[in-house]
Amino acid sequence: MDYKKLIEAAVKAKENSYSPYSKFRVGAAVLTEGGSVYIGANIENASYGATVCAERSAVIRAVMEGEKKIKAIAIAGDTEEYIYPCGICRQVLAEFAGDDAEVICTRKNGEYRAIKLGDMLPDAFRGGK
Ligand code: THU
Repeated sequence: MDYKKLIEAAVKAKENSYSPYSKFRVGAAVLTEGGSVYIGANIENASYGATVCAERSAVIRAVMEGEKKIKAIAIAGDTEEYIYPCGICRQVLAEFAGDDAEVICTRKNGEYRAIKLGDMLPDAFRGGK
């Protein structure tokens, strides 16, 4: 699959990052099985632990629109190296995405790696389902 459009959406979403503390902007774009795209960015807080990552903000938007099946997610930062989702976001993704879902990790120069969620979070806990 060509993830160009999804990646572009993640890069654009990064513009809405609220990251005055870390100055580390992240954007994400979720592709649902219904074919819709939902974007998110990291939203930080003066109480640092209350920060929401870009991936989770995109997932929450999809779910709030009734789209609970995620096919892919693209993640974009400003880093030379690939950006990968944190452990909490991997777990949140596993709630709404199967092991075959693709996590598209990008880097500044436009290159990307498509990694299956099941490879990023093997034997994910899904409540025994
Ligand atoms: N962050 C994300 O939004 N997604 C990631 O994949 C890694 C980290 C955010 C959280 C925080 O606002 C900033 O990046 C630095 O950790």
